[in-house]
Amino acid sequence: MVNAADQSLSVLFVCLGNICRSPMAEGAFRKAAEEAGLACDVASAGTAGYHIGEPPDPRAIATARANGVDIAEATGRQLQPEDYERFTHIFALDTANLAGITSRAPRQASARIALLMDALPGRKGETVKDPYYGDESDFAKAWDDIAKAVDVLVERFKTDGVSARF
Ligand code: 4NP
Repeated sequence: MVNAADQSLSVLFVCLGNICRSPMAEGAFRKAAEEAGLACDVASAGTAGYHIGEPPDPRAIATARANGVDIAEATGRQLQPEDYERFTHIFALDTANLAGITSRAPRQASARIALLMDALPGRKGETVKDPYYGDESDFAKAWDDIAKAVDVLVERFKTDGVSARF
């Protein structure tokens, strides 16, 4: 079994479809990590398989672009059993997906699984609301939540390294 404490830092963001929230989180985290000089593999996935192989929603691409992040080349993928050992940390964008991630965890899972918003003081237990059925302002709100939370993740990883718990 893999011991997460012996791995190099690698982070997976997971939402439902992997075309709105988690690709935005992947892009926002990658940018924040680069700016902070934090070395980390980053990826995203969906618990559902509806959008495998598809690019992010055009509204997610536009929102990321407006914030200086290019996610246009991302490709939808579904959460796989091996992700639980491949990544040191898995962050769920909402509570329903947290439950899905946890309930599917293989016995040998080593990744630390957490709700993204738990990282943000005062926002514990909160969901990044799904903007898929909303409009551009819902994407902007989701980006704001995500950007605040990933800044905290990067800070904590800089301090605590791969052993960070959320
Ligand atoms: P996401 O948003 O989980 O943030 O990628 C959704 C994308 C697609 C669907 C639902 C949510 N869908 O039902 O197809």
